[in-house]
Amino acid sequence: MTAPTFEGILNAANLLSAKLPRTPAWSYPLLDERAGRRVIVKHENVQPTGAFKVRGGLTLLAGLSAEQRAAGLVTVSTGNHAQSLAYASRAASVAATIVMPATTPEFKADAVRALGASVALVGASMNDAATYAASLAEQSGAYFVNPGNEAGIVHGHGTVYLELLTQYPEIDTLYVPVGSGSGAAGAVLVRDAISPSTRVVGVQAAGAPAAYRSWKSGELVTADADTLAAGLATGVGFATPQAILRDGLDDFLLVSEAELRDAIATMAHDAHTLCEGAGAAGLAGILQDRDRGVVRGARAGASGAGAPSTPGVAAFACTGGNAGSAELLALAKLDLAA
Ligand SMILES: Cc1ncc(COP(=O)(O)O)c(C=O)c1O
Repeated sequence: MTAPTFEGILNAANLLSAKLPRTPAWSYPLLDERAGRRVIVKHENVQPTGAFKVRGGLTLLAGLSAEQRAAGLVTVSTGNHAQSLAYASRAASVAATIVMPATTPEFKADAVRALGASVALVGASMNDAATYAASLAEQSGAYFVNPGNEAGIVHGHGTVYLELLTQYPEIDTLYVPVGSGSGAAGAVLVRDAISPSTRVVGVQAAGAPAAYRSWKSGELVTADADTLAAGLATGVGFATPQAILRDGLDDFLLVSEAELRDAIATMAHDAHTLCEGAGAAGLAGILQDRDRGVVRGARAGASGAGAPSTPGVAAFACTGGNAGSAELLALAKLDLAA
């Protein structure tokens, strides 16, 4: 496994600038008011696949050799990584087989098929599906794309945060949703290189805490994955991102299902945006900090100079808008009285 680097993110940004438009990032007055500070939202939900993962897929495909392309690829995913690789494979004329757990909602499988990839619905869980996908790749000679441990994918995902921190150097806390951790690892590499005073705070669902527990313990652990936020529901820690997150994350928050639903509803109400659970997770972290009275401030000011008294500028990426029925139900229960 090659370790991801900031240089790799710069190269990915160069590559992607010819393939994807730059996504918008701005603030909403109602959201700022509710959060009690300025919040910058980067809209990855407007990507052609509805999620930031398309950046990782396109970057990974560009790095494959001619032999690897000819052999095709196999991967495992419940949704956005699947669409990302299907999209990028179609663009590069590479055959792709996506293994999805048998429990995957039909509309997610349909979205992948519509992008031209083959779908195999196998296994009761992501872990079962991943075992099957690895064996399928071994038998067929196809390249197995590990959804969390590919440097190319971290590089592609890191470009979200390169754009965000370049456009808004005033951001002092960046809240990043964590599933495998590839996006958060990219955010840490960018922060270290261009904005060292920015805090990077990971956010995962309390019902799917594998990355969180791996980060806490310093070991790769497995955990249940029971959350409406499919993008955060990885049942295992991944070595490549965890190696970067270990010292790079300033903090790691777990958010409840109620907090995720509230963040989804808030994005619809205040920011005219449909987020899936994982896409709203960054905001769930911001609102949790507000509720707990946590004031973070910039990194440099926090050491020695005492704790900051006013919250600074927060940011998160709405990483995806592919909402399923549980996320849409959160809108039906819209209650923002608090
Ligand atoms: C919308 C969305 N946000 C966040 C994540 C988490 O990203 P990562 O696996 O890079 O931690 C995912 C993962 O699939 C996702 O689909």
